[in-house]
Amino acid sequence: MAEEIIEISDTFWNIRGDLRLKGILNVGTQCSLVRLDNGRFAFLGSYTLTGDIRERVMALTDQGRAVEAVLNVHPFHTLHCAQMAQDFPSATFYGSSRHAEVVPEVAWATDRVESDAVAARYPELAFSMPDGIDYISDNEDIHAGSLLVYHPASGALHVDDTFNVLPLPEIVRDVLPVPQIALHPTLKDALHDTPDAGARFCDWAERIATDWSGTRALCAAHSALMRFDEGEFSSALRAAIAKARPKLTAAQG
Ligand SMILES: [Fe+2]
Repeated sequence: MAEEIIEISDTFWNIRGDLRLKGILNVGTQCSLVRLDNGRFAFLGSYTLTGDIRERVMALTDQGRAVEAVLNVHPFHTLHCAQMAQDFPSATFYGSSRHAEVVPEVAWATDRVESDAVAARYPELAFSMPDGIDYISDNEDIHAGSLLVYHPASGALHVDDTFNVLPLPEIVRDVLPVPQIALHPTLKDALHDTPDAGARFCDWAERIATDWSGTRALCAAHSALMRFDEGEFSSALRAAIAKARPKLTAAQG
């Protein structure tokens, strides 16, 4: 895994970043750059841009001046927000209530990133909040919740954490029955304390498989981008949910 900017289309770029747990294991992180219909740009997530990736982004965005917003869609992905605010001082910074608490030096917009007001401002994007799990858990180690963002024009789906993709080479996938999509390891712990939480999460994910069946590139923070042919994303997500549903619903029993 190395830092990389991947052009999904001429309106969507996914930037693969490094995130080293305890300084060793690189579990990866990401942000995405979207060209809006007005010709300006929005980021999904924050990442400290350096070297060639920074140059490419600055060239695309008129040295950052065309970046109008940064939408921080994962409440626990806060490491790079302050640097991003320095790099793109004219952008509006949207985040969750936790972003405002943890990174108070950023001038956060009053509207939360998950609000209807923000969604209405970006008709090029579709947003979805998972059902049945905490968006911001009281337990700092539970990161399964996040706001998902789909960009129909490019078929890119930006997911920080709720769904994971294991970064395996195609050749390994050809010989091993590794699922294409995995649920975040803390998902079970993130379930609301209600009897139907597991079922609600699974039903929501199946709706995503239907509503966003045009997904061609699943950009998962941890820790890979996975491409899908037509229809493949829906079947991969349905397979992941079919496997998880008994465990997630039993957890509530
Ligand atoms: Fe994460």
